[in-house]
Amino acid sequence: MLTIAVSKGRIYKEALPLLAAASIVPAEDPDTSRKLILPTHRDDVRLLIIRATDVPTYVEYGAADLGIAGKDVLVEHGAEGLYEPLDLGIARCRMMTAGRVGETWNGRRVRVATKYVRTAKRFFAERGIQAEVIKLYGSMELAPLVGLAECIVDLVDTGNTLRANGLEPRDLIMEISSRLVVNKAAMKMKHAAIKRLIADLETAAQPQE
Ligand code: ATP
Ligand code: PRP
Ligand code: MG
Repeated sequence: MLTIAVSKGRIYKEALPLLAAASIVPAEDPDTSRKLILPTHRDDVRLLIIRATDVPTYVEYGAADLGIAGKDVLVEHGAEGLYEPLDLGIARCRMMTAGRVGETWNGRRVRVATKYVRTAKRFFAERGIQAEVIKLYGSMELAPLVGLAECIVDLVDTGNTLRANGLEPRDLIMEISSRLVVNKAAMKMKHAAIKRLIADLETAAQPQE
């Protein structure tokens, strides 16, 4: 049995065609089903439906053999305990700093609101900027509008969310896409099945430029 952890929402939707290429077709739709373990049309594969930020944890502890997670989540979690054999090229966006239009902070200290606390701390420290990082769980774009922070670190795709809130993108921190991650013990114990799955997903994934 192979257990694959995946989050509901955009990663699930974009992963469906790739999984189908490996003959993995969920037997139910996670948007309508309340089940957290989804059987598939292959009796040797099941999906766990979990929060995006929990995927590395399930895979690291071996509760799932494999997972699909954004690079943002993997970098923030720390991916030393996992193998990351494949860039699936889905859910692409950029992690950026952003602030209010036309307002650059020039003090020595900046307050940064983000859910990516470790990544943000590292980014500002590497640039010698003293940053007070404030942990949020969502809607980071609100923080500069109400004086909680001068700056945010968040994901940007079309830029619509920033624009709609009078914010502008500043520094690119990293390009983001979703990756296949594999539990280290499972990679040994279930080598043949996992190797084949990686090959099938690799063929289906868009070529990376
Ligand atoms: P939750 O809804 O559980 O709080 P979330 O907001 O992280 O979690 P999603 O919005 O589905 O859940 O994001 C999952 C992953 O998709 C992110 O970790 C990131 O890699 C990618 N992603 C997030 N927003 C975008 C976007 N606007 N465009 C493209 N990819 C994105
Ligand atoms: C994500 C991200 C940004 C937005 C960026 O939010 O957190 O807010 O997308 O995309 P854009 O540049 O195309 O506007 P999401 O849509 O996942 O909403 P969420 O707050 O529910 O996570
Ligand atoms: Mg989101």
